[in-house]
Amino acid sequence: MAQSPVFLGKNRIRLSEVSSTNDFLQDLLSKTSPMEGTVISADSQLQGRGQLGAKWFSDSHKNLSFSVYLEPVFLAATEIFYLSKMSSIAIVNALHKLYPKEKFLIKWPNDIYHENKKIAGILIENALQNDHVKHTIIGIGLNVNTENISSHIPAATSIYDIVHIEQDREAVLYHILKSLEEFYLLLKNKDITTIDNLYFDNLLYFNQICWFELQDGQQKQGKIVDIEKSGLLVVEWPSLERESFDVKQLKWIF
Ligand code: BTN
Repeated sequence: MAQSPVFLGKNRIRLSEVSSTNDFLQDLLSKTSPMEGTVISADSQLQGRGQLGAKWFSDSHKNLSFSVYLEPVFLAATEIFYLSKMSSIAIVNALHKLYPKEKFLIKWPNDIYHENKKIAGILIENALQNDHVKHTIIGIGLNVNTENISSHIPAATSIYDIVHIEQDREAVLYHILKSLEEFYLLLKNKDITTIDNLYFDNLLYFNQICWFELQDGQQKQGKIVDIEKSGLLVVEWPSLERESFDVKQLKWIF
């Protein structure tokens, strides 16, 4: 049986309201030296941030919004995508343990989906020093108890909307931190093969034909065949030609 988290969340700062838990942690870092594994959580985020400058909206007191402080100094700058891999498989693993009948998948690069709807998002902010990671902030937003979330965010779902039972947010957080610690230690031990395999095993639409929209608006069918070490998505077109993309360069159409 997996152990309880040893260091993740040992130092926990619980806030009732904050602009963004990632920003709070950034600010804390500019003033003090928090211990590795510090977790900042908030019942309400006024200016939650998402990837690519998007906003992250979450109902107050219903969901999980938290940030984890880590010092993965063992990672080279070229390996930072492993933080995305490690954190997304950790969330999927925790959700599968909590809800074994449900299937959760990773939408590249690090969104967590249930049946084509997003249930969690991750915002990772790294500081680099001499070609290595100095520290990282892993901000996680998970839709837990919002009811009928798709009525206001059509492409989203929540645990409540899947299982129809109100969840204990602290219990869900505990499982996620435990899993995050487990996979972080795997990464620290350089068990890259396990992490790579789990990421591909849980990757939405891996090796399946789907529709993509390119930056110029062109829509094309292709399949995801690989992820580069840097995190770029490798798509194979029907011509068998392969092309790599970053998140800004393509969207996919469900
Ligand atoms: C995304 O899917 O675009 C990423 C969303 C990340 C949201 C979380 S909530 C806790 C942390 N604080 C933030 O401001 N953002 C992250």
